[in-house]
Amino acid sequence: MPQTSIALKSEPQAVTRLDIGLDPKYCDRASEALTGILAANYRLLIKTHVYHWNVVGPLFKPLHELTEAQYGALFEAADIIAERIRALGHLAPAKIALAAQFSPKGSDVGHLSAEEIVRDLIAEHEAVVKTMRDAAEAAGDARDKVTEDMLTQRLTFHEKALWMLRAIVS
Ligand SMILES: [Fe+2]
Repeated sequence: MPQTSIALKSEPQAVTRLDIGLDPKYCDRASEALTGILAANYRLLIKTHVYHWNVVGPLFKPLHELTEAQYGALFEAADIIAERIRALGHLAPAKIALAAQFSPKGSDVGHLSAEEIVRDLIAEHEAVVKTMRDAAEAAGDARDKVTEDMLTQRLTFHEKALWMLRAIVS
């Protein structure tokens, strides 16, 4: 039998129950929360990348460089968040139907001034920070130290990004 047929027969199950001292219901909720965070991360990643290309005006150089550093960090974060969902026993989002949740609408990344771009990125980072803080608190309450630590590191990145974006337009 060809190797590919064997690979197709051994698709992973949607949920693997773990015996690591975490409540299974918590693992379900945390995986759902992290999937939402992953979607928000991808939307922000794509926006940041599009703005990196399209920014014009006197703020071009600082914004072009800052967005490059930020979309790189957001790309790395996507892998970290998705792998945490796997470690909690769930599948990382794999359905093409979910793609719409993972990308911004075209009108969301239309022609904006450099200042409007920064204000939009600030609003996006602020929204994801609030979601992450709630998820981190839930993880702490459930003794899920690893998810709490991961989200604390993600919060550190987003709060620093917010400081840098605010500094550019202040
Ligand atoms: Fe570039």
